Amino acid sequence: MELPEALRALGDLASTDPDLLDRHACDWSNVDRQRPLAVLRPRSVAEVSRALKICNDLNLAVVPQGGLTGLAGGATPRAGQIVLSLERLKGIEEIDRDSATMTVLAGTPLEAAQTAAAEAGLYLALDIGSRGSCQIGGNIATNAGGNHVIRYGMARAQVLGLETVLADGTVLTSLTKVMKNNAGYDLNQLFIGSEGTLGVVTRAVLRLHAQPQSKTTALIATPDYAATVKLLRRLQAELGEVSGFEAMWPDFYRYVVEHPTTGVKPLAADHPFYALVEFQGNEAERDRARFEACLGEAIEAGEALDGVIAQSEREARSFWTIREGAPLDMHPYLINFDVSAPTAQLGELAERLNAALLSRWPEGHFYVYGHVGDGNIHLSAYAGGSMASVAHEMDDIVYDEVRRIGGSVSAEHGIGTLKRAYLGHSRSAAEIDVMRRIKAALDPKGILNPGKVI
Ligand code: LAC
Ligand code: ZN
Repeated sequence: MELPEALRALGDLASTDPDLLDRHACDWSNVDRQRPLAVLRPRSVAEVSRALKICNDLNLAVVPQGGLTGLAGGATPRAGQIVLSLERLKGIEEIDRDSATMTVLAGTPLEAAQTAAAEAGLYLALDIGSRGSCQIGGNIATNAGGNHVIRYGMARAQVLGLETVLADGTVLTSLTKVMKNNAGYDLNQLFIGSEGTLGVVTRAVLRLHAQPQSKTTALIATPDYAATVKLLRRLQAELGEVSGFEAMWPDFYRYVVEHPTTGVKPLAADHPFYALVEFQGNEAERDRARFEACLGEAIEAGEALDGVIAQSEREARSFWTIREGAPLDMHPYLINFDVSAPTAQLGELAERLNAALLSRWPEGHFYVYGHVGDGNIHLSAYAGGSMASVAHEMDDIVYDEVRRIGGSVSAEHGIGTLKRAYLGHSRSAAEIDVMRRIKAALDPKGILNPGKVI
């Protein structure tokens, strides 16, 4: 298919360079890579608006893209579709210290925004493993979760103001800096987590917090899931809000620390269960002493078996690196899941998933880890052979268990294309119908990210 004249007239904003098309052919899920017809890379909001209006007039499907770190296929184009990359629309426009806000363009990498906030003496609480590559616009479009949700909430909790361009090119600007704005419907929240199906995020006002003055990070071995939850509630009751609480089931921990690329093993690999705890405070020595005392009580109460507190930022980072599980990314045949259920039932869900998968694939390995304080686990599953033939069967098994327990088929990674068939497992027919009506109202021609979410 030829690039339409109206798009060619956009000059270097529209590219058909084959290398560029290949780079924009897929997100990190790396499933079903397909070359788009063109990649549009606007430098201004006006250019985003112009490009969308042209595509809408020509009925061309547009796939908005941020840093492509998504895992649900939400930013993966189909052959012949137009990619709209926000990578050139980047930069921090303002940091308002008194209002504790940052105004930022969509293509700004998350890590750059975090650094700018820190340089201004403030704190951007959003943090995910892909911080160096992902972009604020993508974080907002997918309502990213990550490592500090337990304390600060997901991406939507960091967004005060938003600017979005609709399918027909309308620029919807609502760049408020206030928490309190009950003047009618909250349109901004509608776009957050809509995965580029309702509009293209171009700018945001993010909420900033006070910069924590100290951080205590610990890796703790526990007897089981139930004890781990008791440990979490003890830490919260005694220390105040915990800023990170992650769990690692034993097969996951063992796989990661025994992998040749890891090189650290802060705790032996034969404990029954592991938790990674982070506590942000204001006085390093006092916080650490309080943390140690609390950990001691937890050990006495049988909620913890052993623990190691990081002595340096480098050591703290190495605990997180274990939890981020890079060796799993090198495994050629893993299928990844991101599901949620109330924290009280998450241990049971993990057990049920493990039992169901093992009975179907006795040779398989199932690695479970995740943000249990948020009611969210990730499962990386290996059926014992090449994955293509088992993917759908495995999806059915996992999502049926999730439905049975009343959980969500997507806790933080979104629906994209990969979980679209299972949206009805976690959303009612009435909810999906309202989603469709909203979609039809904002994008009547259905040009924005068709085939995604609903
Ligand atoms: C994580 C990503 C996979 O928590 O969400 O590591
Ligand atoms: Zn996660």
